Amino acid sequence: MQETFSIIKPDATKRNITGSINMLIEKSGLRIIAQKRIKLNKDQAVQFYIVHKEKSFFNDLVDYMTSEPVVVQVLSGENAIERYREVMGATNPENAEEGTIRKQHALNVQENSVHGSDSIENAKKEISFFFKSEEIVG
Ligand code: CMP
Repeated sequence: MQETFSIIKPDATKRNITGSINMLIEKSGLRIIAQKRIKLNKDQAVQFYIVHKEKSFFNDLVDYMTSEPVVVQVLSGENAIERYREVMGATNPENAEEGTIRKQHALNVQENSVHGSDSIENAKKEISFFFKSEEIVG
């Protein structure tokens, strides 16, 4: 069993489709073992995406991620990190496969509805950025 970190992003909370996204997550066999709806502040968004600070889209990304609430989640399952990346589909929805969250719901490469960790190390970091261990109840 492995854990990964997920964010349902502002474009999705704004359109009231968090339930539809959770349905796709659960249909894939992943379990949502922790979840909360929060509004990121600028410091949190900057820290969370600090690896992208030199990218041309960084300021827009921070503005977008703080524009509306997000839902942060811990997902659990066999190979959860890779599995969730398959369920999300490609970062750019134009390249995402049929049936993926981003193919079905994302608007564009920035407003791409969901985030998922890309490695074991980042999953640990990202989970502990948002959740205390007692908030992960299984
Ligand atoms: P995510 O998987 O959360 O990781 C970084 C985020 O930056 C990404 O999803 C998108 O929301 C955004 N992003 C990535 N590439 C681009 C791009 N080329 N232009 C604008 N935003 C991007």
